[in-house]
Amino acid sequence: MTARVIDGVKLAAKIREDVAHRAAHLTAAGMKPGLAVILVGSDPASQVYVKNKVAACEKAGLHSVLEQYPSDMTQESLLERVRALNVDPAIHGILVQLPLPPHIDSHRVIEAIAAQKDVDGFHISNAGLLMTGKPLFRPCTPYGVMKMLEAEQVPIRGAVAVVIGASNIVGKPMAMLLQSAGATVTICNSKTKDLGWHTRHADIVVVATGKPKMIDASMVKAGAIVIDVGINRNAEGKLCGDVDFESVKTVAGAITPVPGGVGPMTIAMLLVNTVEAAERAQQR
Ligand code: GUN
Repeated sequence: MTARVIDGVKLAAKIREDVAHRAAHLTAAGMKPGLAVILVGSDPASQVYVKNKVAACEKAGLHSVLEQYPSDMTQESLLERVRALNVDPAIHGILVQLPLPPHIDSHRVIEAIAAQKDVDGFHISNAGLLMTGKPLFRPCTPYGVMKMLEAEQVPIRGAVAVVIGASNIVGKPMAMLLQSAGATVTICNSKTKDLGWHTRHADIVVVATGKPKMIDASMVKAGAIVIDVGINRNAEGKLCGDVDFESVKTVAGAITPVPGGVGPMTIAMLLVNTVEAAERAQQR
């Protein structure tokens, strides 16, 4: 068996096209959707991510602002910037790129973002809404994964799903979304004993660990759907995921590549969340 390769680039382009229409509609009504992205420090990967986010906004006709600050920015100055953006009528979405430098309490910063502008969906009130089945903003990466499963017509109701990685950004909200859609979900982590026992029982495996080649063919059930959220660089400096793609594609039913899988979907869903935030602001 050779797995179907799920094309995240193509699906993301379709979603961005829809976002562009909605943004044009809002702009014509005097409410151009606006996203502010804050980056503190000079982490090279974060710099690439935020630039891609801002470029995607511009391309879809959204207003975007990238604020970059040195790594010694104080927590108080960052909180002040967030508070100013909370009341800026041109800004409908605020994203503070994580991780933040260690002297800044990222929880404090995220909780300072107005929940209705929290397009990452990380604020506790948005996490709570997601947990109780009434999400306002779904975190972009898990939201993108759900869109991929939907586009591939993967049955979720009654499926056995295993999520590897329990972060607030990916693993936990991913599990919530799958569970709300009717899957039986197990969240595994770096300490899970006999990880392969769990993954071999799964119809859907979502891997978000940051460890290259963590999942190989021996750990995957024939025909399973394997979603790779990892973005790593191998010894040759080439981008790779957390899944041993060449091995797993011989047993899986469908698999996402890295690059070209989940990554583009994360950005597309950020645009969706920003347009939704602007649409809600228009209705207020
Ligand atoms: N760092 C890695 N992924 C993300 C994300 O989706 N949002 C933010 N704000 N920071 C991140």
